[in-house]
Amino acid sequence: MIALVTGAAGGIGAAVSRRLTDDGFTVVGMDLPDVDVTSSEQVEAFVDRVEAVRGPVAALVNAAGILRTGRAVELSDGDWAATLAVNSSGVFHVSRAVARRMIPRRAGAIVTVASNASRTARQNMAAYAASKAAATAFTKCLGLELAEHGIRCNVVAPGSTETPMLTGLWDGSDALRTSVEGAPGAYRVGIPLGRVAQPSDVADAVAFLLSERAAHITMQDLTVDGGASLGV
Ligand SMILES: NC(=O)c1ccc[n+]([C@@H]2O[C@H](COP(=O)([O-])OP(=O)(O)OC[C@H]3O[C@@H](n4cnc5c(N)ncnc54)[C@H](O)[C@@H]3O)[C@@H](O)[C@H]2O)c1
Repeated sequence: MIALVTGAAGGIGAAVSRRLTDDGFTVVGMDLPDVDVTSSEQVEAFVDRVEAVRGPVAALVNAAGILRTGRAVELSDGDWAATLAVNSSGVFHVSRAVARRMIPRRAGAIVTVASNASRTARQNMAAYAASKAAATAFTKCLGLELAEHGIRCNVVAPGSTETPMLTGLWDGSDALRTSVEGAPGAYRVGIPLGRVAQPSDVADAVAFLLSERAAHITMQDLTVDGGASLGV
């Protein structure tokens, strides 16, 4: 069975690819510079080629993403547009291309890696949080429309996960401790389970939602953040 993973070269995408390979999938990665998820033309052509050469895509994981931080009133038009283009429109382009092909086969599962920031306000993350909220809502609506075709669509919402996206924000030795203990001045609670996530923690949740063990689960948003959003 073919699994398509966007952002496969990144921390979480690579962990998902390894996990799905262990589960018996043949994983096809989609990442820059070969395919840009912001281009519907590139995405359509890539999915066409994968299906022609490798076979039908049975599982899709939307893990490509970017993070541009900055106070809402200071965000540039470019940062806002780029964030929405990858994190929201990218999910739309790839999910649409794959789902259209899944429908006649009446089989398939899709998981979008969004973020706990999609429903927990965070300073300096307005564009990112908005883009992830859009991706989450899109994936749930897609799940409703595809249910009659036997296709499930779910969301995994990670919190702080040790990948280049997170470590790129770390500016000093206290950054990891601040993530875990929280920053009251920034209205940010810590992580009750006492550590940031490893990419494999997120990959395990993705693999579960794609598997037959989740056969009756669709339109759900599974948070993997060690309790950082307090179950909300
Ligand atoms: N690391 C965290 O703390 C964290 C927390 C919550 C959610 N997430 C989400 O998890 C997903 C994976 O992030 P990560 O932590 O592995 O980050 P990462 O930066 O390690 O990987 C992101 C990957 O996406 C790819 N990508 C970016 N723009 C692309 C484009 N236009 N087309 C194709 N690929 C593109 C990058 O090349 C990279 O390989 C992202 O959607 C991210 O928003 C991460």
